[in-house]
Order: sequence, then C-alpha cells, then structure tokens
Amino acid sequence: MADFAWWQRGVIYQLYPRSFQDGDGDGVGDLAGIRQRLDYLAWLGVDAVWIPPIYPSPMADFGYDITDHCAIDPLFGTLAEFDALLAEAHERGLRVILDFVPNHTSDMHPWFQDALRGRDAAHRDWYLWADPAADGGPPNNWRSHFGGPAWTLDPATGQYYLHAFLKEQPDLNWRNPAVARAMAQVMRFWLDRGVDGLRLDATWHLIKDEHLRNNPPDPSWHAGLPEHEKLAHVYTSDRPEVQRLVCELRQVVDEYPDRVLIGELYLPIERVVAYYGTTGNGIHLPANALLIGAPWDADSIGAAADRYEALLPVFGWPNWALGNHDKPRIAGRVPPGHSRLAALLLLTLRGTPTLYYGDELGMRNGEIPPAAIRDPIERNMPGLGRGRDPQRTPMQWDDSPNAGFSPGQPWLPVAAGFETVNVAGQRADDASLLTLYRRLLQLRRAEPALAVGRYAGQGAPPGILRYEREHDGRCLTVVLNFNETPRRIPGLQGRVLLSTLGRDEGRDIDDSLLLLPGEGAILAGRPDPAAG
Ligand code: GLC
Repeated sequence: MADFAWWQRGVIYQLYPRSFQDGDGDGVGDLAGIRQRLDYLAWLGVDAVWIPPIYPSPMADFGYDITDHCAIDPLFGTLAEFDALLAEAHERGLRVILDFVPNHTSDMHPWFQDALRGRDAAHRDWYLWADPAADGGPPNNWRSHFGGPAWTLDPATGQYYLHAFLKEQPDLNWRNPAVARAMAQVMRFWLDRGVDGLRLDATWHLIKDEHLRNNPPDPSWHAGLPEHEKLAHVYTSDRPEVQRLVCELRQVVDEYPDRVLIGELYLPIERVVAYYGTTGNGIHLPANALLIGAPWDADSIGAAADRYEALLPVFGWPNWALGNHDKPRIAGRVPPGHSRLAALLLLTLRGTPTLYYGDELGMRNGEIPPAAIRDPIERNMPGLGRGRDPQRTPMQWDDSPNAGFSPGQPWLPVAAGFETVNVAGQRADDASLLTLYRRLLQLRRAEPALAVGRYAGQGAPPGILRYEREHDGRCLTVVLNFNETPRRIPGLQGRVLLSTLGRDEGRDIDDSLLLLPGEGAILAGRPDPAAG
C-alpha cells in the first residue's frame, strides 16, 4: 500500500458547501458548519473532502462565478476560518480538495470589469472577444450550456464576449500567457496554504477553436433535449491544445509534494483517458462519469468497467463516482433497494471513489416547488429535467426541523422523508445504508486488495456482475445480483466477508452462493489450510 499515493488508496467525499451544515443560522451552509461536521466525516471513514467553490461570488451560478479567486465569500466565512478548517481536517487525517475554476470568472471580477472599459483595456485580451457577424448578430453559432447564445454583445465596445455557461460567466482566454500566469498564482495561493488537491472545473472547455468555426449539428438530438445539444461541440470543447495546458497546470501542482489534480470531464471514455497525458504528465484523476451515465444493469456496468480498464494507460489510476452536484441522485436512478448494490460497486471497483454527500444515507432528489427554484439551468431551460436544485438539498442530519441543517430557513427545501432518512437514525441502525457505507469503508482500509488491488472482470450468469480484486496474493471476489429474483451463483469458494444485506457473513462457501434480489457480497479466497 505504501507504494500508492493517498489519493489512490483513499476515498473522496464531495459535499456542497451551501447545503452541508449551516453554522450561523442564515439558511446557507458555511465553513463553520463544515468544521462542526468533520468528526462525522472521520467517523464515516473517508480520506478527503472536496469542497466546491467558496470564493467571493455574486452567486449567479452558486459560486462557480468568481470575483476573487484568493479569498472566501463572507457567506461561507473568512480565510482564517478556512485555515482553521484545513488544520482541523488534517488533525483528523482528512485531506481537503478545493474547486479551481479556470474556464471563466464572474462578469463582476475586476479583470472583466477592466476588460469592459474598452478595446485597449489592460485585461481586454484576458477574455474572448469577437466582432459581430455581418448581420450584426453573434459571431458564430456557438450556444451556452445554460441556454441561449454563447455570445453576449457589449454595446459600449461593439464586440461580443464568449461564455460557455451564463452570460455572467465570461470565458477566460487561455491562449493569453498572462491568464495562465495569473491562474497558476491562484493555484499556488491555495497549495501554499496546505490544500491537498484541486478539482479543475469544466476542464474540457478551456480552449476554443481560434478560427471560431461553427459547430456542426448533432444528428442524435431530439425534442425534449436542451437546445444547445442540437450541436456537436467539436470546436468548443476537447480541443487538442487543452492537452498542453493541463500538463502546465499539473506542473504547478507538482511543485508541491503529494497533491492531487482532479479534472471534470464529460467526454466519451476514450477521450477522458487522454487527459492522463502522454506519459502520466496530465491530470491525476480525469473524472470518469461511467456510473452516472450507464444503464443500471450488470451487462452495461460490467462492460463499461472492462472497457475503462482496457483503455487506461499503464500510468493511469482509475476513479469512480455515482453522482455529483450536477447530476440526479443515485437513489432515484436505481430500483428500490439497489442503493446498497451501488455502494458496493462504488467502493469495490478499482480506483478512487468519490462519494456525494447524502448518498451514504440514500438521500433522494428533493421536490422543488416553482417558487423555490434557484438553479439557473432550471430557470433558463424549465421542464427539461436538467435543473440541479433537487440534488443540492440540505444534508439530512436528524429528524428535527430542517433536518438539523440549520435553525434558519434553508436556502433550498429539505427533501421529503428526512424524518427517517438521516444520519442520527441510521447511525444507530446496524442494518442502515449508512452502516453499510461505513463497513465498506472500513473493509477497504483493512483489505489492500480492495483499495489498490488489480481488477479482473469474470463471466457470470445473466444479471450478475462478478469481478476479482487481488493484491499480494490475497484475492477477493465481488458478486452483485441486479436481478429482481434470488440467484444462486455457481463456482464460488471462500469466506463471505460482507453482504449488502448482512447475510451469511463469516460463512465459508464451498461451491455456490445464493444472493437475494439486489444483494451483493464480497468473498475472500478459500483460506490457506497451511496458514491454520
Ligand atoms: C461545472 C460545475 C457546475 C457549474 C459549471 C460552470 O460543470 O460542476 O456546477 O455550473 O461548471 O461553472
């Protein structure tokens, strides 16, 4: 295990800072709240916590629109409180990963405010400007991910500026070396403070075609999908020049020992793996969204895992996630009871898992009444099911009003069912999902085969996923029953270390194991008789 970095052995916990714990009663989560809950994270047994943006922001995109990269928004606290949080996390053996948002700033950022002063402004070329098309409209057909054109006219200077997301989030010009230098300083600011890693937001968007060529139509588009998906984003994302850039960002991280660089990437998996760099000089963990997109069945998931393993370069370390602050929660994407199977999958596939806050309880997407909608995606493109408020509702700590999240009115409503789905109740219940997550996390620590062992997919009956993890001669078999009926799995020997339903644990199996619907298990190879 010592040969592996902490971010290879460990498990990352992603929280959403507005929704984890409110420490000052204003209904919005904050750093004081996170500090109060560090003991919970240590108890749960995760290794690192990833905190999405906490920097000063007008909150048009809830912190992903930054006005000062090297400070803390007063809504969340102060820099001194952040330093205290970092120290207290480290005391508990928890690492801290921060979001780093290089693609764009807020339109209120001093750089953009200066750029608006005129075509000769010092920061004009820090952003992407273009003259209107012949008809006076936007320079080309590029569309924003959050609805409407990706270009907004600045009437005072007569040019359009580019924004992949909201018009309040102008894209930076990464071809300008001054931008690269300034952003490297931002990274060093946090790494110098002792932050253990950075998660690069919107990595695949960083460079756009310099000729501003129109994106071609995407023939797979159909009614009901957002309008920007009518186009294939070939000239606005995953441009070849991004590769050089991520290597430069990696070099900054490498100025510090033992830090990790994670990259957000929504791309086909064969493109995701390109972001490790040609020699492992790119992103440590280019985020793999396979478990977020794959149909929930044994064949699809097994095939996705095998393909990913086959595509990984020798130096590439895998990673997995079931969800995040941008995607619907796993509990609602799988059949009832399968949250347990999902937990087993996430924590036993080879690679670094990232666990999204509340998924360890089986939290479900919240119902957001129209008047409570906050997410700009839902506001701009209503009714398409892309709004992200439902997966950002307050963490459910107990059955008291507001689920113990805040004494004030929470910024988003607490999801229904919190009276039973909450930490306090599940901590006290040996059969709860939370207890299962904790046991799996403990087992990963005790069993290097699970944390760092090699992976081998194995043949299995229909609806069954089966794979082995092996390290230093210790071999574990993981079996998962996706069927709605019980199944007997033949050809299995060894001791049952864990079942998601707590059945047969400690029992030695000679030839087959019966799994109930939605049950999964981990078996240790037949004990060596010579070892007594
Ligand atoms: C990333 C973030 C998302 C944000 C977007 C724009 O995709 O995960 O929450 O809205 O970037 O910054």
